[in-house]
Amino acid sequence: MPIAIPVSPAEEDAIQQQVETLLGQMTLAEKVGQMNQVDSGGGHSVDRHRHSIQAGQIGSVLNEVDVEVVNELQRIAVHESRLGIPLLIGRDVIHGFKTVMPIPLGQAASWNPELVCECAKVAAREAATSGVNWTFAPMIDITRDPRWGRIAESLGEDICLASALGVAMVEGFQGDDLTSTGSIAACAKHFAGYGAAESGRDYATTNISENELRNVHLRPFKAAIDAGVQTLMTSFSDLDGVPATGNAFLLRQVLREEWRFDGFVVSDWDSVRQLAIHGLTTDDADSALAAVTAGVDMEMAGGAYLHHLPRLVEQGLVDQAVIDELVADILRVKIRLGLFENPFTNPSDLPEIADDHALATARQAALQSAVLLKNDHHTLPLSARQLTSVAVIGPMADAPYEQLGTWIFDGDTQLSVTPLQAIRDMVGGHVDVRHVPAMETSRSRRSDAFDEAAEIAGASDVAILFLGEESILSGEAHSRADINLPGDQAELVRRVREAGKPVVAVIMAGRPLTLTNIVDQVDAILYAWHPGTMGGPAIADLLFGVESPSGKLPVTFPRMVGQIPIYYNQKNTGKPPSPETIVHIDDLGVRAAQTSHGLTAFHLDAGYKPLFAFGHGLSYADFVYHSITTSSAAIRLGDTFQVSAELTNMGAVEADEIVQLYVRDLVGSVTRPVKELKGFKRVRLVPGETLRVDFDLHTDDLAFYGRDMQLATEPGVFHVWIGGSSETELRSEFHIVDGN
Ligand code: BGC
Repeated sequence: MPIAIPVSPAEEDAIQQQVETLLGQMTLAEKVGQMNQVDSGGGHSVDRHRHSIQAGQIGSVLNEVDVEVVNELQRIAVHESRLGIPLLIGRDVIHGFKTVMPIPLGQAASWNPELVCECAKVAAREAATSGVNWTFAPMIDITRDPRWGRIAESLGEDICLASALGVAMVEGFQGDDLTSTGSIAACAKHFAGYGAAESGRDYATTNISENELRNVHLRPFKAAIDAGVQTLMTSFSDLDGVPATGNAFLLRQVLREEWRFDGFVVSDWDSVRQLAIHGLTTDDADSALAAVTAGVDMEMAGGAYLHHLPRLVEQGLVDQAVIDELVADILRVKIRLGLFENPFTNPSDLPEIADDHALATARQAALQSAVLLKNDHHTLPLSARQLTSVAVIGPMADAPYEQLGTWIFDGDTQLSVTPLQAIRDMVGGHVDVRHVPAMETSRSRRSDAFDEAAEIAGASDVAILFLGEESILSGEAHSRADINLPGDQAELVRRVREAGKPVVAVIMAGRPLTLTNIVDQVDAILYAWHPGTMGGPAIADLLFGVESPSGKLPVTFPRMVGQIPIYYNQKNTGKPPSPETIVHIDDLGVRAAQTSHGLTAFHLDAGYKPLFAFGHGLSYADFVYHSITTSSAAIRLGDTFQVSAELTNMGAVEADEIVQLYVRDLVGSVTRPVKELKGFKRVRLVPGETLRVDFDLHTDDLAFYGRDMQLATEPGVFHVWIGGSSETELRSEFHIVDGN
């Protein structure tokens, strides 16, 4: 669904006309005012900002969600400032507003763009009731580091998946008409490279080669821009020596010259002034100069633009034309949003908060995002008919706030339905549901309740352990170096295991955790991420087989932290490992001559495989893939072709499956990854059904940036796989040949 912005060249002309008329009337101070975003300041924001708005010194306010206050701020801007330019009201509406959807990483595990789009649509409508007209989402930073707390906000490690879902979010927030009630401007962030922070430590330096930057990190941004995203946010991070907020290569060359982006760029919070802290500039004036020269249109907080740009222009260090160009970008977006015609909000024009549709969407998203990592002996689904008792144990079983995850400024904890409540509602009438939290929080180190937990586990037919991380353990500035289950959870698992009953672990977390120390202690693992408001009912449906799990991992799960970065689309290296070439540290001889193994790329203590691979996710059905074909063995550059395979549901239940297509370009002018996701489809099969799934590919879909930094598809041999995870072995081959 392409976005109709602007709908016609005539409208585009009219917008340009309006921008030029306004610019012609504006003083330098008013122009700089449009480039200034301020924080509401929490309470009394009208009093705090009245004079500045009247004087045309504020273009946008963030973090005001009281609709009456927002309307008053808009009234002052529209009726009491000289030119009556309305305000952008920004807010981090990251995964829901009052109704909280699964964290973005969880939504990514649904591999369902339509559903992700709907989640954003619900969030936009709810946020719009407060007068918010601009969200700082989606976050489409590619990350391969689960230590990084902001992986929770990301759409995972893969370019194809993150691009598709980032586009879906943009479409959901912005709708197909930006002026319509309930559409808000989206912001693709953080441009660029933030997800590659060294050691996953938030805000840390990134060093990314230009080739890697173009082939990996920039691609989801290009997709978002093609989908019509109106704004971008710079990253806090240093990119190869030039922090993103002062990086003209990113903001001018790539964004404006190559991609022709015509929305606007906002800095991250105070990141203009932080250029001096990075050591790029000497003081705030110098930082304002660097950011404006690089092409940052609006400064979020900090005030360096407001205080220094007028003088920098008067001193001739910044050209008026540069200011005009940046202000035009901002005005264009305000016009496109229809703010000049309709700056005010009447909440009754919008659906009620947390209406049936919002809750159903949240529930469906939680349902489709949970990933069944392990299910020995068909432990799951549980049979409500055969059970007489179940032990519900653990710090996350009944934690209405914790299940919502990070970045939930406006999330309503009262709406949360916890797994304990949902299990009681579903089976409590005839199954004895016993509950012991056992730990106060996920970080707790007190084990005095473990005896009781083991006791109820031993006295029940099955133990369900609700484990994971509290909300506060992921998100901005909440990175971890140890990503095991925190606190004494592993010990709790061991104690419950000793009770001798089947053990199911449901894990709610903001990142992939290293589960190596518990994986063999439990019979099944359902990874629910932070599932949001309706996590409880969704998890109950999955545990009791009302629906089959269908989520697939959007990110690789390492065995140990030392493997990071570990991701599926890595390069082959000159010494690729295989089961035959690796040796474990315990089997290693004293001297090289005493050990027979290859000299390949692996760790002596971790091998080379992850604990769970990208794309992995089990089902209560049993899907068998076969019969892979390509429509032609030799495809001409510029042509479209088809890759197909069949899958059969050999199991006894109807279920969704996510069919994944991977490609490897065997030889390139720069080396290519061992596998790259190029397509995916969510399909549903009844027992016994066989379905053929076709993927249409164009040779452009195989393009990459080569040594010359140009995007091109290179002729040659390609391998292609279709299957249910990145580890699929069902493979075919095709050739791309020169068109001439
Ligand atoms: C974050 C952004 C966010 C902004 C406004 C910053 O600290 O990095 O992602 O949009 O704050 O809240």
